[in-house]
This record gives sequence, structure tokens and C-alpha cells, in this order.
Amino acid sequence: MATVLVTGGAGYIGSHTCVALLEAGYEVAVLDSLANSSAASIDAVGEIAGRRPRLHIADCRDESSLETVLAEVRPDAVLHFAGLKSVPDSVADPLRYYRHNLDSAAVLLAAMERNGIRQIVFSSSATVYGLPDELPVSETATTRPANPYGWTKLLIEQMIADLVRADPRWSAALLRYFNPVGAHPSGLIGEDPEGIPGNLMPYLLQVAVGRHPHLPLYGTDYPTPDGTAVRDYIHVMDLADGHLAALEHLRSSSGQTHTYNLGTGQGVSVLEVVSAMREATGHPLPHEELDRRPGDVPELWADPGQALKELGWSASRTLADMCRDAWAWQSTHPQGFRGGKA
Ligand code: NAD
Ligand code: WQD
Repeated sequence: MATVLVTGGAGYIGSHTCVALLEAGYEVAVLDSLANSSAASIDAVGEIAGRRPRLHIADCRDESSLETVLAEVRPDAVLHFAGLKSVPDSVADPLRYYRHNLDSAAVLLAAMERNGIRQIVFSSSATVYGLPDELPVSETATTRPANPYGWTKLLIEQMIADLVRADPRWSAALLRYFNPVGAHPSGLIGEDPEGIPGNLMPYLLQVAVGRHPHLPLYGTDYPTPDGTAVRDYIHVMDLADGHLAALEHLRSSSGQTHTYNLGTGQGVSVLEVVSAMREATGHPLPHEELDRRPGDVPELWADPGQALKELGWSASRTLADMCRDAWAWQSTHPQGFRGGKA
């Protein structure tokens, strides 16, 4: 069975994907600096899957550590999740974001090339589309990132596509995630943001466990049915399954770069998420109506048809599943991994 290296595998999406990879029979090794995660997530992955991936604590930008890890693990493919992901932080400190994300990718790809490992699955983002011309958004839509974080994703996509063009022994899948939410249904792993969450679902979950009095609701005057912004929320385990499908597809994709939207194709408003979370948590989840958050687009949802056509993948979990599973995690880990189990 194939061996894979998962960079950023201790993080939110990486850890859930590790579970899916282990359950599908892959040998899994993780490389993570633990800059935004905890080794406890890897222990929990082992508990769920019955096999613990080996964790190499290292930074993707560190060439000699990468060399050692690749020589030891000898992966057939790499899934590259490692990177910084905060939109506001990237606006405040763009150079840090460009250096961190671009260097991580470039140093990793060069080390893979030296070691003859030429299959890569990259975590891109729907943020590359910026304000879309039409909905749903397909992979051929114009890309126009509205912030430095989004630009790092688009530039890394370009870097990978150029590499594949230059050497057809390479193959790549660029996965543009929409809004990943939820957790493994066991409640043993989940999203564990440092500080005050910037994203909707983690904020709501922290209101439900009493860490904040109410949700700040950004914008009630959008041209949408209920006035709040619309997004394509996707269960993180559906996303994990999408990685497996992409990885399988790479085996027969020499010389090709595939780009796939990973979303459900369904738009859901902020108020619809609040109402589904109320149902799942039994908490009233009060909110305070505020102005729009600068940089937010009114509506964004995917055309996920390409992934269905080429990978046979589509999301199957509902908004109620996302809320139930996220609550299974947050209610048992009110302070995340750092606080231990409640
Ligand atoms: P996360 O922060 O939970 O996970 C990222 C992991 O990478 C962390 O464990 C962190 O410690 C590690 N890391 C960061 N820089 C590193 C480096 N240089 N070397 C080694 N390890 C490093 O984030 P996530 O939500 O799991 O996101 C994973 C990937 O998916 C990121 O690339 C992110 O940009 C992308 N993405 C996330 C979302 C989202 O909403 N969560 C949406 C679209 C794309
Ligand atoms: C969703 C909606 C907010 C928090 C971000 C990144 C994107 C991608 C996914 C990485 C918006 C509203 C939010 C709150 C609120 N990440 N909201 N109160 O902005 O669609 O996407 O995460 O690639 O790049 O930009 O997700 O969860 O932050 O916001 O009212 O406290 O919820 O205004 O309308 P977003 P989000």
C-alpha cells in the first residue's frame, strides 16, 4: 500500500484527512512544526484509526529537516496542508505570509524533486476567486484574490503547474476548498483555533460553550434572501474523502495538473448556520448585528461538477451533520486540545 507524507497533518483539515488515509490503508507520516496545532491531535488520530501516524516535528522551510524526513519516510506522494491561513493577518503582515507560504511550498517541492517524489496534492482555497462574476463558481472562473493570503494560494498553484509542465513525471491536484466546517463524528478531533476565532462556525461553538456572550453577525443588508452572507460550508470529512479521491487519480495523471473545487454546491446563509447550530447545541446562540466585515463577498458557492465527473467525488454530509459533529468535538473539548477533555 502507498505511503504518504502529510505536511500540516496535525492541523484541522490535515488531521481529519489522516484519519481517512489510515482507514483507507495508507501508511501515513506527518510533518508539522506545530506552529498552529498540538501533537495531541495526532494521538487522537491514532485513537480513531487504530494506528498512529509518525509525527516529524519540522518546518517545511527547513531544507535539511525535509531531506531527513523524506529519506526516512520515502513517500509515494505528499499532501501539502502546511501554511498560514488567516486573511486579516495576511493583510496586516503580507511579507510574512508571502515568505512563509511560498517558501514552504518551494522548499518542499525542491526536496521532493531531489528525492524523486513527484505526486502532490495541494490545499488551495476558494479565496482565489475573490468576488465572483457568476454563481456557482467553476474552476475556469477568473481568479482575482482580494488579499495576500489568497495570492499565496494562487502563486503556489502556478508554481506547481509550471513544475508539472516542465517535467511530465510530476502530477498534481490543486484542491480549492470552500468553507470547511464540522469534525470527525467521534468528537476526538476538531478545529482548535488559537485566540478569538475569525471564522463563523468556531465562533458559534465557543458561544455555545460559554466562552463568548454572543456572535458578532457581520452584515444583515446583503442582497440575499435573509440579508446575511451566503457560503458553501463543507463537512471536513467530505473534504478528507475528496483528498483520497484526488490522490487515487494522481496515479494515472502523469504530466497533468488537475484543479478541483471541493464544496457542496449549496449556498447557506449566516442565519441558516446559526439556526442549524441552535438545533444541534440546544443553546440560544444570541447575536449582535454589526456592519459588514470589510473584504467579505455577499455570496460564494461552488460548482463541484468537475470533481464529480473526474474523481467520482461529491459531498454527502448535511449542514445538520456538520453542526452535530462540530458540537461532538467542542462540547467535549471546550478549550480545545490545550484544555484537555471535559
Ligand atoms: P491549520 O492551521 O489547522 O493547519 C495547518 C498546519 O500546518 C498546522 O498544524 C501548522 O502547525 C502547520 N504548519 C504551518 N506552517 C508550517 C510549516 N512551515 N511547516 C510545517 N508545518 C507548518 O489549518 P487548516 O484549517 O487545517 O488548513 C490546512 C490548509 O488548508 C492550509 O494550507 C489552509 O490555507 C488551507 N485552507 C484552509 C481553509 C479553512 O477554512 N480552514 C480553507 C481553504 C484552504
Ligand atoms: C463566513 C460568514 C462572515 C465570523 C474564510 C476565508 C477563506 C477560507 C474559509 C481559507 C461571513 C460571517 C464570520 C463571525 C460572522 N479560508 N461571520 N461572524 O470569510 O467565507 O472564508 O474561511 O482559505 O479564505 O476568507 O468564512 O467563516 O470567516 O465567514 O458574521 O464572527 O460568516 O462575515 O459572511 P469566509 P468565515
